[in-house]
Amino acid sequence: VSIGNGSSQHGVCVVGLGKIGLPLAVQIAGKGRRVIGADVNQAVVDLVNAGTPPFPGEDDLDDRLSAVVTDGMMQARTETQAAVFESDVVIVVVPLIIDDDRQSDFSALDAVTEAVGRGLEPGTLVSYETTLPVGTTRNRLAPRLAELSGLVAGEDFFVCHSPERVSSGRVFADLRKYPKLVGGINAASTESAADFYESILDFDDRPDLERGNGVWPLASVEAAELTKLAETTYRDINIAFANELAVHADSLGADISEVIAAANSQPFSHIHQPGIAVGGHCIPVYPHLYLQGDPTALMPSVSRQINDGMPKYAVDKLAGAIGPLQDKVVAVLGLAFRGGVKEAAFSGV
Ligand SMILES: NC(=O)c1ccc[n+]([C@@H]2O[C@H](COP(=O)([O-])OP(=O)(O)OC[C@H]3O[C@@H](n4cnc5c(N)ncnc54)[C@H](O)[C@@H]3O)[C@@H](O)[C@H]2O)c1
Repeated sequence: VSIGNGSSQHGVCVVGLGKIGLPLAVQIAGKGRRVIGADVNQAVVDLVNAGTPPFPGEDDLDDRLSAVVTDGMMQARTETQAAVFESDVVIVVVPLIIDDDRQSDFSALDAVTEAVGRGLEPGTLVSYETTLPVGTTRNRLAPRLAELSGLVAGEDFFVCHSPERVSSGRVFADLRKYPKLVGGINAASTESAADFYESILDFDDRPDLERGNGVWPLASVEAAELTKLAETTYRDINIAFANELAVHADSLGADISEVIAAANSQPFSHIHQPGIAVGGHCIPVYPHLYLQGDPTALMPSVSRQINDGMPKYAVDKLAGAIGPLQDKVVAVLGLAFRGGVKEAAFSGV
């Protein structure tokens, strides 16, 4: 089926059919847009084309994926360039990871950008949803797309960052719950992105939000990149304070739970609970992306230091209580980085 650019069918290409990209692709197909999902992993592509989720644990994905595949609204492929050529919106949601030196590893994102640039047709919107260090979309990705396609970014095609704020396991619910932020490299890009996301998302009522729930255009692509780093780094810093406070209370022989509950009885205090680690693919990682944009920032650097130190603190405390742990069997209850997931990713545990 050709669902090419300029055709009346308005194809959408989602690159990266992972825990976030696949439910997003299914959401878009469920809104009546034909979707081509592109992924380098042949096994993922085969499973998606069979209507079977390649990973467990995502609410509603089984039924919704099988419905859109059966209806012919969604197919998956390994060739990104051809899929992009046939689409007028391209969403990129492949991982950006950090290496051992805590620097960004752009290899997946750069590989996708090469393929997108080669397949790009005039009029296409390219939306990067992967969390990025500030400046990446404007300075690294958009110029490469322009170079490869021979088109002018912001005029012949549109580029935005729209950070994905959902959590795996509850993507469909979260897509309705949180405002969808979009920031383009210019006004035309922001407008194109806002129009697109408005057409594929529905939102819960959120009377608590001043602007109301929906698509929120931001003033620049940098504002969109920074917002995602801000909301996640904020969480790391808050947890770090609870952890540091717990270590201090410990040294005083004070009960940290009692102290936090008492402190939080005052309305301006919202102290979090301390723990043995901060894990997951986002909270321990994004403060490092923040620091790449502002290497002199103190808070993200200190919060990482504190939270990274918690597994060792817990182990030392245990050893202090029961003696050397060598040859002992230790059961860790609550190892997963969040309730309902089965991973201890990046927690240091
Ligand atoms: N997992 C979360 O809870 C979460 C939450 C919010 C935002 N995000 C954002 O979403 C991004 C993706 O996360 P995820 O959990 O979906 O990752 P994931 O590892 O589950 O999936 C990534 C997919 O991308 C594919 N891929 C890798 N390189 C590719 C390439 N060159 N071309 C095509 N496909 C390629 C992989 O085969 C895989 O299927 C994260 O980096 C983050 O920025 C994730």
